[in-house]
Amino acid sequence: MRYLCSGESHGPQLTAIIEGVPAGLLLTAEMINKDLKLRQQGYGRGGRMKIESDQVQITSGVRHGVTLGSPITLVIKNKDNKNWSEVMAIEPVSSLEYEVKKVPRPGHADLVGAMKYGHRDLRNVLERSSARETAIRVAVGAVAKQILAALEIEVLSHVLQIGKVSVTERDLTFEQIQQAIENSPVRCTDPVVSAKMCEHIDEAKQQGDSVGGIIQVLAKNVPPALGSYVQFDRKLDAKIAGAFMGVQSVKGVYFGDAMLSSSSFGSEVHDQIAYDQGFIRMSNHYGGFEGGMTNGMPIVVQAMIKPIPTLYQPLNSVHIDTKAVEKSMIERSDSCVVPAAGVVLESVLAFELAREILEEFGSSQMSNLIEAVNHHRQSMRDF
Ligand SMILES: Cc1cc2nc3c(=O)[nH]c(=O)nc-3n(C[C@H](O)[C@H](O)[C@H](O)COP(=O)(O)O)c2cc1C
Repeated sequence: MRYLCSGESHGPQLTAIIEGVPAGLLLTAEMINKDLKLRQQGYGRGGRMKIESDQVQITSGVRHGVTLGSPITLVIKNKDNKNWSEVMAIEPVSSLEYEVKKVPRPGHADLVGAMKYGHRDLRNVLERSSARETAIRVAVGAVAKQILAALEIEVLSHVLQIGKVSVTERDLTFEQIQQAIENSPVRCTDPVVSAKMCEHIDEAKQQGDSVGGIIQVLAKNVPPALGSYVQFDRKLDAKIAGAFMGVQSVKGVYFGDAMLSSSSFGSEVHDQIAYDQGFIRMSNHYGGFEGGMTNGMPIVVQAMIKPIPTLYQPLNSVHIDTKAVEKSMIERSDSCVVPAAGVVLESVLAFELAREILEEFGSSQMSNLIEAVNHHRQSMRDF
């Protein structure tokens, strides 16, 4: 399974074509839209989220709510495009009055992107480097989640830290986390910490600043032995880490208790092996991976998110034509995207898992895939 996506932030639409989804999967726009809505929520999002209420259109690969096995095309219209139709016109325009963006934001793709592609208007970079693109990746992830759901695999994300405020209780089950974040505006399990996180975001916003944080993403009921140790690029944890780093703002990825294990004795952190109707581990410090392969324990992966680059109290930068020092440009912006980034990363994990499963058990039909995975699970139990 693979996909390619396209679309500028204020262009007419975002598009993705996914190839390799088996036939026979139930899929409707509504199943995708609920994830799109989650991405748009979260304390700290900016004005754009009020303008856009993302809805996907499925324009190929599905008939009567069931996938056909042919490429699936997903489209999300940018409702804001009507306000940008001239600035973002596809066809040449004779004359146009608009502000050409010339002062790159520190921490964004503006300057290096312009140097790479030879652009003198930084809008030509920011329109694609913007995380607006993550909307379509969430839609793709929602399709992957449907494949996983048919195999009884679930993914989930929650926020461990925003700025300097972090949760202390870390021993919750998947279901407890799912329930606890339901009413949290920052997708955090602890209501007291949630409130402090919101205050912290408000403080940053008042000062024209931004904050980052740490997200945990989990997957449960993942079959053992996905991925492989035999070649570096077949290690599934490496593929997931790479895919996570592909999300805007992610600056670090670690599995399980990597921060703790790097400063502990081996005897304190290696997950002891036991047998109970199949091999299990007595703990999960390694976040569900050994040798680049799933070991049957829940996958637990954390992503460190930097504070977003656009600041309403901008830092100094340099005008790309005059070379004069100026305050960096401002593009309408959020002040904290950590909860939304969690929804994006959940989709990314879902896609990587579904892709790996299809690679391992390759099938053109969902019924055959389900049978193959069930057979594999049984053979792992019988080992
Ligand atoms: C969901 C999401 C929303 C984002 N929104 C903004 C934003 O409003 N303003 C901004 O400057 N950066 C935003 N970012 C971060 C930038 O897109 C990102 O920092 C930039 O593309 C440079 O990439 P890098 O941080 O990976 O180096 C967002 C990131 C995510 C994941």
